[in-house]
Amino acid sequence: MTPTSYEQVFGAAPQATALAPGRVNLLGEHTDYQGGFVLPTAIPQQAAVSLGRNGTQEHVLYSANLDQTIRVPVGEVGPGFAPYLTGCFALSGVQEGLNAFVTSDVPSGGLSSSAALEVATLRALRDLLPLELDDVALALRGVQVEHEFVGVMCGVMDQMASSLANTRTMLLIDTRSLDRHAIPFPAGAEVLVLDSGVPRRLAESGYNERRAQVEEAARLLGVPQLRDVTDPAALETLPPVLRERARHVVTENARVLAALEPGVDAARFGELMNASHASLRDDYAVSHERVDELVALLQAHPDVYGARMTGAGFGGAVVALVRQGHATAAAQAVLADYSEQGSQVVP
Ligand code: GLA
Repeated sequence: MTPTSYEQVFGAAPQATALAPGRVNLLGEHTDYQGGFVLPTAIPQQAAVSLGRNGTQEHVLYSANLDQTIRVPVGEVGPGFAPYLTGCFALSGVQEGLNAFVTSDVPSGGLSSSAALEVATLRALRDLLPLELDDVALALRGVQVEHEFVGVMCGVMDQMASSLANTRTMLLIDTRSLDRHAIPFPAGAEVLVLDSGVPRRLAESGYNERRAQVEEAARLLGVPQLRDVTDPAALETLPPVLRERARHVVTENARVLAALEPGVDAARFGELMNASHASLRDDYAVSHERVDELVALLQAHPDVYGARMTGAGFGGAVVALVRQGHATAAAQAVLADYSEQGSQVVP
C-alpha cells in the first residue's frame, strides 16, 4: 500500500511540516517577467512537505503522488522531482541529509503545482533550520530555484501567489515593485477552474522562447521592460512575431489596469478575460486547439461572464468567471460538450 505519511516512510515523526496552495490567475498572463501586473488568487488545493534530519550526508525524498523515492547526496541536485526540493535546500544552506515526504493535490498544468511545492518546502525549512525569511523573500527564493535548479525562467507571480495569496480575494501584484493589494472578486460572481485534460507539451522551451522574444522586443524599443510601453502604436517598428508578442504584454497590462477601474462589474471583468484569451491565442501563441474549444464553450454559456486559459499555457487549465452559485452546473454542461476528458478543479 502506498504510504500516506512521513511516519510510514521514515518510521519517526517529521521535525517540520508545511503547506502551500496552488494559484489560478484571473488576469495578467505572461506579463510578470516584464514588470507587469497580475491578478492571481489561491486555490484550495495544496502541496504538503514534511522534513526531518536523517543524520547522513544523503537526502531521501519521497513523493506520495509518484510513489517514488529519490536519494541525492547533499550538495547535488538529483533527477525527476528532486530539484524542486534540493534547490530549496541548497539555497537555504542545508549541509546535512534530510528526509522529505511530499504530497500534493494541486493538478499539474497551469495551477502552479511547482511553486506550491517550492513554497511548502521553504516554509518547512524556515521552521526546521530555522531561517529568517519573510514571505516575499521566501517567494523569491522559490523563483531562484526555478531559474537555477529547474531551468524555467519564470516570473515572480506563482511563488508570490502561493506565498501571499488567499482564496477569498485576488492579489494584485505589481511584479516590478512587488507592491500588493487584495482585490475583491466582482460582485455576484464566482471562479470556476477546469482542467482541459490536455497535457502540457514543450511548455518549458516555449516559455523560455517567449521570454527571450519579449526581452528582445524591449531591447529594440530601448525600454527596460515592456511595462514601460503603454501605447501599442509604439510597437509598430518591431519586426513581425516580436511585435505580436510585445502587443500581448502591453495590452494585457492595460487589461489588468482596466479591471481595477471603479465600477467594473462581473460582465466587464469577463470581457477583459475573453480579450486576454484572444491575445494569448493569437498574439502570444501559447494556447492549444482543445483549450480554445473549451474556452469557447465556456464563453458561450449564459451564466459565464468570461473565460480564458490560465498559467503558462500550451495545454493545462482554464479559468472562468461565472454567475454566483452556477459554476458547477456550467462546468457540467460545458464538459459534456467538450471533446476531451476535462475536469472541474474549483470550486
Ligand atoms: C508560469 C510562470 C509565471 C508566469 C505564467 C504566465 O506560470 O511560472 O511566472 O509567467 O507562467 O503568466
